[in-house]
Amino acid sequence: MIHSLGLQSQLLLFFCFLSLSFALRADVNDTQLQIQTPCTTLSPEPLAPLPEKKSYREVPSAPNALLTQKGSAADKPVAVYLTWQHSPLTTMTIQWISSLESLSDSIEYQQSGTKKWLRAVASHFPFPENFPGLIHRVEISGLKPATEYIFRIGKQEKIYKFKTMPTDLNKPLRFVVGGDIYHDLIEFVKETNIQAAKTNPDFALLGGDIAYTSEKESEIPENSDRWITWLINWSETMITSDGRLIPMITAIGNHDTLGRYTQSPKQAPFYYALFPTPDNREYRVIDFGKFLSIFVLDSGHTHLISGEQAKWLEDELKSRNDIMHKFALYHAGAYPSVRQMDSKMSPIIRDYWVPLFEKYGLNAAFEHHDHAYKRSVRIKDDKADPKGVLYIGDGAWGVSEPRHPKVQGEQWFLAKTAAERHFILVTIEKGKRKFEAINSKGQQFDSYEIKD
Ligand SMILES: [Fe+2]
Repeated sequence: MIHSLGLQSQLLLFFCFLSLSFALRADVNDTQLQIQTPCTTLSPEPLAPLPEKKSYREVPSAPNALLTQKGSAADKPVAVYLTWQHSPLTTMTIQWISSLESLSDSIEYQQSGTKKWLRAVASHFPFPENFPGLIHRVEISGLKPATEYIFRIGKQEKIYKFKTMPTDLNKPLRFVVGGDIYHDLIEFVKETNIQAAKTNPDFALLGGDIAYTSEKESEIPENSDRWITWLINWSETMITSDGRLIPMITAIGNHDTLGRYTQSPKQAPFYYALFPTPDNREYRVIDFGKFLSIFVLDSGHTHLISGEQAKWLEDELKSRNDIMHKFALYHAGAYPSVRQMDSKMSPIIRDYWVPLFEKYGLNAAFEHHDHAYKRSVRIKDDKADPKGVLYIGDGAWGVSEPRHPKVQGEQWFLAKTAAERHFILVTIEKGKRKFEAINSKGQQFDSYEIKD
């Protein structure tokens, strides 16, 4: 075709090519580069801006200063928190964060009301990616169910308290649930924590996007200071009125994972370092004796929803037919209140997990990720059914501005929604479970009960 152009046109095109090549070589990193050329027929695509190599969320500075303290101050734990790797009736995993100087791993503990201190030795390891600080961990086992214990760390005078879970439901058990926590400012988190702690829960379920440390681009480093800020805040505020630390069970979210979806555990180094699991595998089931089982699932962040996880879920649900209370905890929702039904992981969860929930009688699934409050109707076979599964949550424990969800009638499965920063208080008793949504000011704005 170029042969059909006149000499003048050919010279013009040649000039355009030369000037374009020169301009691109001159400054390929200038994201504002405007290529000036006399040729209007050649209009190259504007260069895409280079990604910023930093998070868009604020980086708190104080926690790092605590981790780099020297001398006697360095021995003081920066944050102390409780999790479970095995039975909540007879074990407790105690963890604390310290400076790199604080190598002491000894703790002493005793049953409240007795006089004999028992000794346990933790192990410690550095944070991933050369982040300054140590994680200390000890799992105490052989404890008595439904019993209060106290412990102290190293030579520190401060006494901490915890309680093991009961073997039965002769008394109601209470726990709080929420997700999407340290979304923006820690003040928002603190407000909700204080209200949640006031309900004196036996433990807390956290459904992912805990400290918002990871970005969509897997090469952007994790904003690790946010984990420390969040842990300090948690350990200072999630204490019951009688002084017990509230243990937590966590599930992973997209903002806890570098790259967010279809990654591997290696892409969530801080999450896996802070919240240990028996096989370093995120999906697991935690059995509270014979009355409660909590299925913690990975909604496609470091494990696929289908395949091994779905097969495992079916096996574990099948073997727990006689358990009175069965709940699932995970991040992205099957029935979202803000996002579209076909968004990301939702259809895959509906394909692989929801039929199992329905087949094996799950009572409720705690979902998050949408930054609003939702309670679904009971769902079975993709329609409302009084014997179906309840989907509740949607993740707004500490988000800066809760989103406006669809409302009842706008989406067939929504029974109640709200744009509220909140947590859910769950009370389980023999044959019934109650769900109360409580906002960050302590006001209950929804309540629902399921009886057998
Ligand atoms: Fe999320």
